Amino acid sequence: MKFSTCLLFSFLIIGVVSYENKFRFAGTILCKSDKPWCIRIRVIEVDSLIDDEIAADDFCSNETTRTYDIEGVDENDGLLDRNFEIQMVVTHNCSRSTDTVFKTHIRRIPLPKGPTEHATIRQHLNLNTNNPQ
Ligand SMILES: *[C@@H]1O[C@H](CO)[C@@H](O)[C@H](O)[C@H]1NC(C)=O
Ligand SMILES: *[C@@H]1O[C@H](CO)[C@@H](O)[C@H](O)[C@H]1NC(C)=O
Repeated sequence: MKFSTCLLFSFLIIGVVSYENKFRFAGTILCKSDKPWCIRIRVIEVDSLIDDEIAADDFCSNETTRTYDIEGVDENDGLLDRNFEIQMVVTHNCSRSTDTVFKTHIRRIPLPKGPTEHATIRQHLNLNTNNPQ
């Protein structure tokens, strides 16, 4: 096969079986601090070759408790039988002036067989202890 034919063929295969997975992540954030604090939340799919960013948000606050609610979409190429492996990477300056980074444990979500709107994934983030529980 010529390269161009091969490329077209690949597009056809992927085009037929790929479908969208909608994700929503929500929860509360706790930060006891005298100063305003800033946070960046990235939700990534860790088992792909390059960490795939599904959703992200960043903001600053003066409050002790804040909520977050972010949505994102990840394509499932349907070629591999595997799970979504989802992790949050949280960067913040709640208790220090320099940025602190921590990650939540990896959640495995079985790949559905068609386009799916997944149930909201709830995760509390305590920035004082860097504990995701
Ligand atoms: C925090 O409060 C100060 C003083 O009221 C205000 O100037 C600042 O914009 C606030 N910061 C955020 C991120 O809300
Ligand atoms: C966090 O970063 C913001 C923006 O740079 C700054 O205003 C705030 O004072 C910092 N908070 C702490 C605890 O250093």
